[in-house]
Order: sequence, then C-alpha cells, then structure tokens
Amino acid sequence: MNDVALTLKNIDFRYGQSEKVNEALFIFENLHLYLRKGEFVSIIGPSGSGKSTIFRLITGLEHSDAGTILIDGKETGNRLGEVGYMPQEDLLMPWRTIIENAALPLEIQGMKKVQAYHKVRPLLAEIGLGGYEDYFPKDLSGGMKQRVSFLRAALTGSHVLLLDEPFSALDAITRISMQEWLLKQWRMLEKSILFITHDVNEALFLSDRIYVLTGYPKKPIQEITVPLNRPRQLLDLNKPKMLALKDQLIGQLRGGSR
Ligand SMILES: Nc1ncnc2c1ncn2[C@@H]1O[C@H](COP(=O)(O)OP(=O)(O)OP(=O)(O)O)[C@@H](O)[C@H]1O
Ligand SMILES: [Mg+2]
Repeated sequence: MNDVALTLKNIDFRYGQSEKVNEALFIFENLHLYLRKGEFVSIIGPSGSGKSTIFRLITGLEHSDAGTILIDGKETGNRLGEVGYMPQEDLLMPWRTIIENAALPLEIQGMKKVQAYHKVRPLLAEIGLGGYEDYFPKDLSGGMKQRVSFLRAALTGSHVLLLDEPFSALDAITRISMQEWLLKQWRMLEKSILFITHDVNEALFLSDRIYVLTGYPKKPIQEITVPLNRPRQLLDLNKPKMLALKDQLIGQLRGGSR
C-alpha cells in the first residue's frame, strides 16, 4: 500500500528483561496499526495503557520483541530521524533560547541561522509566543513550553508527526486555538499525524480515525472512523451522532483501565 505513511505490524513488546517476564510488564501482543499519508489519527486510552510506549517503539527509543515497523513502506535503521516527535515530557534544551530551540530542526536540515530565525519568528507569533524569542525555557509556563516543543516537532522535515498529548498543559481557550492552528498546519504542510490525547472531544474534533486502547491486550484495539467532513467547526461536536460517539468513548475509557 503506497498510501501508508506508517505501519506497525504484529508488534509484541514488554518492558524488562526476558528472564524476568511477568504479566505486569506485558504491554503489547500482536499490535497492528497504521497511518495513511495525509491522515490524522488519534490514540486514546486510560493512563498507563501504553500510548507513549507506541511512540517510543516507532521512534526506536524502545525495541519491540517481535513485529515490524515501516515508514513509507520501508524498514529503516534510524526512525527517530524519520519522524517529527514531540514527547510527552518537555525536552527543550535549557541552554538555548526559545527561538534557538524552535529553529533547531531547520538548522539541522542545513538552513542558515538567520534564515531559520526569519522563518520561525512569525510562527512563534502565530502560537502566541511573539516577544518571547529570547527567553529561556525556565522562564516560560508549562503550556508555553509545550507550544515551543510542538513547533519544533512540526518543523522537522519529516511528513510523519508523532504528538504525545501536545496540548495537555493548555487552558481550554488556548487549547482550542492550538487545535485550529494545528489543523491549518496539517493541511498546509501535508503532514501525516499520529496524536495521543486523553481528551475525547479533542480526538473527535481533530481526527479522521481514532484508536482506542481500552483494556488492551485483553480486548482488541478498537478503531473508529470519525463521521465528520472537513473543514469542521467545534459546533459539529454537538450533532447527535457525535454526542452519542463521545458518550460511547467516555464509557469505554472509564470502564476499561488496565
Ligand atoms: N521504562 C519503563 N519500564 C517499565 N515499565 C514502564 C516503562 N515505561 C512505562 N512503563 C509501563 O508501561 C505501561 C504503559 O506506559 P505508557 O507511558 O506507555 O502509558 P500511557 O498510556 O502513555 O500513559 P499516560 O496516559 O499516563 O501518559 C505503564 O504500565 C507503565 O508503568
Ligand atoms: Mg503517555
């Protein structure tokens, strides 16, 4: 399938050494998931259900015990370099200013500093960080750091973006404007996005499909196609079929922690 950006096939994974294997360390058995080119897919599931672990497997920070991970249909040695990854914990470099942090992927791609800053400056302003370019991460709030970290991931050359709860530290209003900004970037930059969130509304508003990791591996991962056309309005979430889907998902999340 050449329209697939990312595939996980038959993945087995557990944390810890094989000689110490026990049920509690078990994470995935025969996990399958995929992301089409240009698609926006969310992963939702209770805390501890393995969402961030999926990203660590994709980036190669953890190694699966069995199975295959393909990017654009190919197995590659250095997957961390092939995807734009925003980890759950903020990994900004404390010794670099905000603009230096955000511009890092452009510099790695060989762009001159002056050009990189020229490109990043208006983007920082768009995400509400105009005027903070020369601050250091320690001088920003959690939500502001999240936005820088998000921009940095979005600026990597890769068309596959892995975003691990990128907006969890934001207040409701900033979160909505970041979601809208993300959709705009997604369309404009033609990225394929895998997005982790705890927020059912966020997943429904943003995604083409949603993977639900509830009670996995006892229950199979559920896959839901969001029945909304694009462009979307937040008010679309109030349609009866969307309210019913939201109730169903919340019920699954509440009923199915590991
Ligand atoms: N380095 C590790 N060593 C051993 N177990 C780990 C390690 N990292 C995570 N785990 C365990 O693996 C399980 C899944 O963790 P993971 O971080 O993937 O969950 P999550 O779904 O992202 O949770 P949250 O929503 O809280 O971020 C948890 O039970 C966790 O305790
Ligand atoms: Mg996590």
